[in-house]
Amino acid sequence: MQTTAQERAARIVGRLDALFEIGRAAGTNRPGLGAGEQRAHDLVTGWMRDAGLEVSVDRAGNLFGRAMGAEPELPEVWTGSHLDTPPDGGRFDGALGVLAALDAVEAIGADGGAPRGLAAVAFRLEEGWRFGRGCFGSRAVCGMLEDDEADLRDPDGVTLGESFAGLGLGELPEAGWLDPPPACWVETHIEQGPTLADAGHPLGVVTSIAGMAGIELVFTGRRGHAGTVPMPLRADALAAAAGFVRAAHELARGLAGAVATIGRLDVSPGATNTIPGRVTAFADLRAPDAGALAALVDGAVAAARSAAEEAGCGVEVVPRWRYEPVAMHPGPMEALRRAVAAAGLEPVELPSGAGHDAAILAEAGIPTAMLFVRSDAGGVSHAPEEDTGADAVAAAVAVLEAALTELAA
Ligand code: HGY
Ligand code: MN
Ligand code: MN
Repeated sequence: MQTTAQERAARIVGRLDALFEIGRAAGTNRPGLGAGEQRAHDLVTGWMRDAGLEVSVDRAGNLFGRAMGAEPELPEVWTGSHLDTPPDGGRFDGALGVLAALDAVEAIGADGGAPRGLAAVAFRLEEGWRFGRGCFGSRAVCGMLEDDEADLRDPDGVTLGESFAGLGLGELPEAGWLDPPPACWVETHIEQGPTLADAGHPLGVVTSIAGMAGIELVFTGRRGHAGTVPMPLRADALAAAAGFVRAAHELARGLAGAVATIGRLDVSPGATNTIPGRVTAFADLRAPDAGALAALVDGAVAAARSAAEEAGCGVEVVPRWRYEPVAMHPGPMEALRRAVAAAGLEPVELPSGAGHDAAILAEAGIPTAMLFVRSDAGGVSHAPEEDTGADAVAAAVAVLEAALTELAA
């Protein structure tokens, strides 16, 4: 018996609730390459098997659930997202894309399949917060891992290499393996902003993904007694970092569409009665076009240097990662637009301020498109309050299946 889009959406929402309970505190805690992400991969593996898909895990630990195509020599269609989350994350970021992909691949497979094979994919470690660099799984597939990848450390000092080995995933992969490359990548994701909700649309087709750069800044001053060092004689590393934070925010405000976030400061020694001698700031810098990104990054580095100098401190600038703004591909975008229109919805388009694995696949030359699903609760994301109504999930289910059916023909 055919299940309706509403029934399939209800199943997805139930599964999102189950994933939300992993590492549950205020929100869900599924750090990439950690036990929480692994638990999510285990759950989705079971759902893929229940769906009759052929399940495999690649050298980076990425999870694939495949429905074979009638013409196996044709490049596959890949669709999915990620299952890791920020600390106390919400239900939908990443997981909605994986579960919608699983639903669509299962439905197409159950209807007799398509000429092309289809793969529902969960990429590892998409979130950049843990190790200061994200999109690990998709960068591994595309051969974009950096030389220092294994040595990246999380806030507890655990390295990425240790975490990868700790999950029994073996050695970090060297080269990529887009061979043969998929025909396209389609990622369904919540908007993580208010645009679709404000305009009253359940879905949107993404035009481009903002460029982003992650930079670690280590400010070094002089530790000292909080009560005995006169202000003019101090080299307070936190004063330097604070000057940088304000300058970076000012800079971003002056560049259209640019944003600067310093979401983490590590203050050493962190004693209330000791002048901070060393502060590490992590700057997340993004902009919609290459010119603004370059101005933002160069300006932020200059601001760090002058803030350090003003506070009598030194500063070390450690670039962690950068990818340029990237446009989505007209081919799969057109298929999404047609499917949205066929569902009786207006095929609205919007850019993505958030980063996604789709940016990596697009940069690797894979025809890539994204389907945004309305974010409710004011568009809040990376927070337990993240919410999307079942009506928007049902719309996404119908549209993703229709678009993938066209792309897999
Ligand atoms: O940071 C991002 O934009 C994404 O959530 N990883
Ligand atoms: Mn995220
Ligand atoms: Mn995401």
